Amino acid sequence: MTILIRNIASLFNVRSENNLLRGEELAILPKLDNAYLIIENGLIADFGSMENLKSVKANSFENIIDAFGQFILPAWCDSHTHIVFAGSREHEFVDKINGLSYAEIAAKGGGILNSANKLHEASDDQLFNEAWKRLEEIAHFGTGAVEIKSGYGLTVASELKMLRVIKKLKEKSTLSIKSTFLGAHTFPLHYKENHEGYINEIIDEMLPVIATEKLADYIDVFCETGFFSPEEMIRICKAGKALGLKPKLHVNQLNSIGGIKAAIELDAISVDHLETMTDQDVADLSGSSTIGTLLPTAAYFLRMPFQPARQLIKSGCAISLASDFNPGSSPSGNMNQVVSMSCIQMKMLPQEAINAATINGAYAMELENEVGSIMKGKKANLIFTKPIPSISYYPYAFGSNLIDKVMIAGNIL
Ligand code: NIG
Ligand code: FE
Repeated sequence: MTILIRNIASLFNVRSENNLLRGEELAILPKLDNAYLIIENGLIADFGSMENLKSVKANSFENIIDAFGQFILPAWCDSHTHIVFAGSREHEFVDKINGLSYAEIAAKGGGILNSANKLHEASDDQLFNEAWKRLEEIAHFGTGAVEIKSGYGLTVASELKMLRVIKKLKEKSTLSIKSTFLGAHTFPLHYKENHEGYINEIIDEMLPVIATEKLADYIDVFCETGFFSPEEMIRICKAGKALGLKPKLHVNQLNSIGGIKAAIELDAISVDHLETMTDQDVADLSGSSTIGTLLPTAAYFLRMPFQPARQLIKSGCAISLASDFNPGSSPSGNMNQVVSMSCIQMKMLPQEAINAATINGAYAMELENEVGSIMKGKKANLIFTKPIPSISYYPYAFGSNLIDKVMIAGNIL
């Protein structure tokens, strides 16, 4: 199937090579005005300015799409989600409105353990169908690649159940999907006083099956006071790495307890959250190849200070943006909101936010050769905007749906 998209008002994030963007590079969003794009078998085959299209015969295409007045962007790359979960937790949302803190809700068996109980009772089909609906929803919001974590299982059987659901989502969906094992999300109640016992279960019982069945690409640990210490994280990650799982880690959401330094030493692909950063944490991250993934909708939903994006960019850190879609701290996978919120609350420039949510997000899933920019050979995962006056209008008009259509692997949804 060969498709021609013609008369594109502006084609954004056009690149001839891949680079992880840091510092000032993040503000450069290359574009081509009055452009065409050719798609072959779901991949970007060529693009250029309309003047150079004359030589190409219109009748050599099976489908021609006119994008007059529209912008086209690469689809969002959401590198941190927990979209396999059962049910919802709006009662805790109301508890929080009534004054309980995230830690207080967790301490009384709510939070992650509440989702773990619900997941335990859910069948594979129920979990798959719920997650599938969320995938369809985020695809219509413009997401074309997504990372999905386990972590609401917390027993051998339930963690494997979650990961097998993610594997099935990978097989059935046209979105690019990466899978992360987050058995170390919290300690199940019966292991509350026996951390060693649960960590041994992760290392000796969960990881070997995950490796044999190829159920995960990455390993994650929630490194926070009251959850996993940096030392515990190091032990779990080393066991994961020995089986080929690279770390992508939850650190510095609530406290700064050495997670960033430990993650860098573990060669983590990314450190995610970063609401609570010391100057030393920022300095350590800027001197590393680890990506800082900011999750502003989680900060927003938990009424926490936003991530220090400007300081991170100024220090030369490579940052990406993700939704953290999960039932407890970010019950939304809308990357358009993430991009707007980054501009409004973290003072990221629209260009910086778009790069962080596309090409750098692709890097945070090691999918930079497949998605994240308009480059020959990459998947035709595209957002077509409604006619808008400038690219800054996109995050500015934060409440409007500015997407005309989304294309995933060359197919319009
Ligand atoms: O990334 N903080 C840890 N994990 C999730 C929230 C999990 C939950 O509350 O269900 C997060 O924010
Ligand atoms: Fe998360």
